[in-house]
Amino acid sequence: PPTLHSPPLGRHPLNNGSVHRMTQNTFELVDRASDRKMSLPVRPASIGPSVVDISKLNKELGVFTYDPGFGMTAATESRVTYIDGDAGILLYRGYPVGQLAEKSSFMEVAYLLLHSELPSRKQLDEFVSSIRHHTMINESLLRFFHGFHYDAHPMAMISAVIASMSAFYHDTMDIYNPRHREIFAHRIIAKIPTIAAAAHKHSLGQPYVYPRNDLDYCSNLLHMLYAVPCEPYEVDPVAAQALDLLFILHADHEQNASTSTVRLAGSTGTNPYAAISAGVAALWGPAHGGANEAVLNMLEQIGTVDNIPKFLEQVKDKSSHVRLMGFGHRVYKNFDPRAKIIREMCHKVLARLGRSDNPLFELALRLEEIALKDEYFIERKLYPNVDFYSGIIYSAIGIPRSMFTVMFAIARTVGWVAHWQEMLGDPAMRIGRPRQLYTGPTQRDYLEIGRR
Ligand code: ACO
Repeated sequence: PPTLHSPPLGRHPLNNGSVHRMTQNTFELVDRASDRKMSLPVRPASIGPSVVDISKLNKELGVFTYDPGFGMTAATESRVTYIDGDAGILLYRGYPVGQLAEKSSFMEVAYLLLHSELPSRKQLDEFVSSIRHHTMINESLLRFFHGFHYDAHPMAMISAVIASMSAFYHDTMDIYNPRHREIFAHRIIAKIPTIAAAAHKHSLGQPYVYPRNDLDYCSNLLHMLYAVPCEPYEVDPVAAQALDLLFILHADHEQNASTSTVRLAGSTGTNPYAAISAGVAALWGPAHGGANEAVLNMLEQIGTVDNIPKFLEQVKDKSSHVRLMGFGHRVYKNFDPRAKIIREMCHKVLARLGRSDNPLFELALRLEEIALKDEYFIERKLYPNVDFYSGIIYSAIGIPRSMFTVMFAIARTVGWVAHWQEMLGDPAMRIGRPRQLYTGPTQRDYLEIGRR
């Protein structure tokens, strides 16, 4: 194949007149060795950067592209969520997340993400009612929890139980049937709080608490997490409101690692419960949804304000492999807009719960202040992300640390389902199958074991 003498696309100035040129509709590549030219179509975005369509690149020039971590690659076209990482903008279906956090509710945002438009009163009522009336899980599924050790991580339990749902609902798993897809969407959104709460009760050795359909989504979740059969339990409205807000902020984030995992798994035609379970597994990692748990561990490890400088020295020493958890983001190179909202919410929730003197929050505020003035973080454009403060709110409302990522998974399920639905409706959908740059041995002959 001809050698392409072009430097990596993302790092080279355009219009240099030598190897590539970009016009409004095309991106022209010239292979100097063979003098072959190729015009790649440019696909415009409604906002944000357009993309060069390289789907014919290999056929025409015999090369693939190399993009570890997919930092420069659009794997799909999408209409769900838009992020401008430099400007700190996050839009769900065009609506700024700040406006939704202030004026909307998690259920309304779920409807918006799934259906592209904000609902009318009637549409919202019907949606909420459908979610409320599908909250119970099959008793056999509930018995699965008995198979786990008491100290199993709740993410391990929920990913297994979600995958197992495919064994219960095979009558509605034709992924090409829109009605089946809708039933799945309502089922998983309605039941994931019940599954999450059961995982928590199992860790405590307490009886499972059944859902209450008279309660709203977040109040019902709190009720299932904290109620016990021997005494009445009153849901704290401040806690329910805080949870609702956190769920809005975590509901979607375009092609992040777990959403891309759901899309990749779903692109094989697997059933949606298996695809969502794969998303839960991807979310679990500390570089993604596991960060909120890691932030609180880190704050506890730092202990007091005096220890911050020593801790930051460790972070800056690459050989220590210590990162400032809750800082940095693949896309945001400015303040994560969700972090700003959560920081404010932290103040309000702690004040309303009468815990304004929360030492971990004080420590987090000081850590943020010191890091934001430090050259290391300034140079690398590292700012607090959504998870720097979310764990502090979760712990203030009594959510145990091992459940933080589970809370994230409940909210993100809505985004995963919206993207899975979008993918299945996309005529360009094909199985996701990345390529590689092979650098292993060239062909060689097998040697009998005695001759090695
Ligand atoms: N602490 C210290 N240094 C960091 C941090 C951090 N949290 N994040 C990035 N850096 C440094 C890297 O060491 C690297 O430095 P170098 O250029 O000197 O080698 C530079 O900043 C760029 O970092 P990358 O790892 O290339 O950035 P990437 O986009 O791949 O990573 C990530 C993004 C994974 C989020 C990273 O910032 C991180 O690990 N943060 C901590 C974990 C975290 O908070 N994750 C939650 C993300 S939000 C979410 O999933 C909801």
